[in-house]
Amino acid sequence: MALLELRSVTSGYGRSVVLRDVSLDVNAGEIVALIGANGAGKSTLLNTIMGVVPLMGGAVAFDGRPLARIATPAIVRAGLVQVPERRQLFGTMTVEENLRMGAYVRERGEVSALLESQYALFPILRERRGQAAQTLSGGQQQMVAIARALMAKPKMLLLDEPSLGLAPLIVQQIVDLIVALRGRGVTSLVVEQNAKVALAHADRGYVIETGRIATSGTAEALLGDAAVLEAYLGGADVGSNSMEERIRAKKLAMRADSGQKAGPQTIRGSRP
Ligand SMILES: Nc1ncnc2c1ncn2[C@@H]1O[C@H](COP(=O)(O)OP(=O)(O)OP(=O)(O)O)[C@@H](O)[C@H]1O
Ligand SMILES: [Mg+2]
Repeated sequence: MALLELRSVTSGYGRSVVLRDVSLDVNAGEIVALIGANGAGKSTLLNTIMGVVPLMGGAVAFDGRPLARIATPAIVRAGLVQVPERRQLFGTMTVEENLRMGAYVRERGEVSALLESQYALFPILRERRGQAAQTLSGGQQQMVAIARALMAKPKMLLLDEPSLGLAPLIVQQIVDLIVALRGRGVTSLVVEQNAKVALAHADRGYVIETGRIATSGTAEALLGDAAVLEAYLGGADVGSNSMEERIRAKKLAMRADSGQKAGPQTIRGSRP
């Protein structure tokens, strides 16, 4: 049985249905990429899994347990943790305070050991632990977001566009990190707009188009699929232009939906 299973999932907001008949599996030990354009429903899918967006039909199961009607903290406690889009850090709080927030489902006595293991994994965060999160670079902020998720001791991470706004070298570091976490037994479902970034480190991938799974397969097969690359590459290579365009599009989208998503204390920037 897969670690995470979605069967014919339908979900959305109020009367507006966003996801239709989405079925997807992630096996333990896999990195699975979910690729799709702006507004395709990638974040809605992750938020539906976490119980933040209500399931309208179908089923979600994690580790053999149906997740319908289970509250988000209980899902986190079961070992499924989201690293949200745009990182959603508490900007004026320190790095360490942000990390502590991630341990809200753990016992108090576990927190220092959990902090220590994040600092061992991210030495730069130990150096910056007393600094306000908003003063960090984009890459370091993404590390805080991932470390905060790891504070919950997850079996599986749902990562929402972890590469957004980061320079190619930093993107590579994040990719290497996700691969290293797999080596430690952490399974990942990684959302990306860019197929090449997403599939470079994934075992398998799914392509989502306007709320439906359009195609899926091994990373190798999808990377060999000219139509997928054409549609989700923004050109022949991952140049700085396409990255800038993505950030510009994302900023516009953020402005358009401001007030709907992040709270006032969160960092919404995607500084390079
Ligand atoms: N809180 C909300 N209320 C109503 N509609 C929403 C809400 N959030 C998202 N939507 C709509 O749901 C659809 C899918 O949005 P979603 O954010 O899931 O896409 P996405 O694939 O994550 O896009 P992006 O790449 O821009 O992050 C869009 O049409 C969007 O406008
Ligand atoms: Mg999104």
